[in-house]
Amino acid sequence: MTKIENDRYLRALLRQPVDRTPVWLMRQAGRYLPEYRQLRAEAGDFMTLCQTPELACEVTLQPLRRFELDAAILFSDILTIPDAMGLGLSFGAGEGPRFARTIQHQRDVDALPLPDPEGELRYVMDAVRTIKKALAQKVPLIGFSGSPWTLATYMVEGGSSKQFSRIKQMMYREPELLHGLLSKLVASVTQYLNGQIAAGADAVMIFDTWGGVLSHQDYQEFSLQYMTEIVQGIHRQYDGRTIPVTLFTKGGGQWLEAIAASGCDAIGIDWTTDISAARARIGHQVTLQGNMDPAVLQGDDAVVTARVQEILQQYGNGSGHVFNLGHGITPDIEPARVKTFVDAVHRFSVAYHQP
Ligand code: CP3
Repeated sequence: MTKIENDRYLRALLRQPVDRTPVWLMRQAGRYLPEYRQLRAEAGDFMTLCQTPELACEVTLQPLRRFELDAAILFSDILTIPDAMGLGLSFGAGEGPRFARTIQHQRDVDALPLPDPEGELRYVMDAVRTIKKALAQKVPLIGFSGSPWTLATYMVEGGSSKQFSRIKQMMYREPELLHGLLSKLVASVTQYLNGQIAAGADAVMIFDTWGGVLSHQDYQEFSLQYMTEIVQGIHRQYDGRTIPVTLFTKGGGQWLEAIAASGCDAIGIDWTTDISAARARIGHQVTLQGNMDPAVLQGDDAVVTARVQEILQQYGNGSGHVFNLGHGITPDIEPARVKTFVDAVHRFSVAYHQP
């Protein structure tokens, strides 16, 4: 395969020199874009977009037509795995995800199948192949999965949660049941990510959106331990390509050393962490991705530009930074603010990459 034309994102993940700091946004394809809302209305619902490779491809490319992004991210969802395990995923209008069946007992865990990436999840692999072709090696494609812990929260709670009472009850009353579920998810996530890599993904990221609700010791035991197993099982060298792995635990700023010890290439940090302190702690080992508060995009162009400059200055000179938000962009953001954000990262980061 020919080399990727703009490989800044991959180079920064491997802490190789770049001409300017690469930038992409978590949830860069989505409801803040009118063209997304239109296509979704035509498709009828969100899962149809995910399950139709041509539509998933079109949605993936939408933000790249507007902004000079340094990476594309597969349009899909982390909940494809539990859905493929038979839990029956649906998205009610404005309600978030719902599962028809949940995991409560050992027999529920025992009954979970290991979905075949080229079987039940073939639509995701087909989306990766379709997007790779359409990107024509212009920018890299990011594949992704949820972490076992984050997936388990949805599978046990039956949807989004504020208190996480059911899964925490399981954690403290029947820890072995939860460990059994998490082990099954490790096997599935590892196969799923390796499937995406074989289908053409150039880098992969694991979203541990809910790791931050765990206590210090429970984070290691119920989340990080399992992400580490996955990092070790991912095909980091595939078909002559080096595939970098990013771990993102929202609220994980106090565990950076432990996360870096997983062997990942990069760590996503949210906006509650000081990126300059994070670099001093682990910047010699891993790349940092982040970390502007997504709500800054509510401000005007001057506010957005000033915050971008501040974060660039806090990270400082040299490679090892992938600019991003500290969590996903929200549906209420003006696309014009995103253009200001992306252009500011490129314009003002050049000064930090002089030889
Ligand atoms: O980043 C991207 O552009 C790629 C697409 C992507 C989606 N979900 C599309 C999506 C990615 C990487 C995800 C990951 C995801 N999904 C996470 C982890 C990252 C995070 O944001 O914390 C989680 C927790 C989910 C689960 C999920 N999916 C929820 C809670 C919801 C409902 C909330 C919401 O924003 O509506 C979804 C639906 C979803 N996933 C949408 C999109 C664009 C909105 C669907 C729609 O209404 O059109």
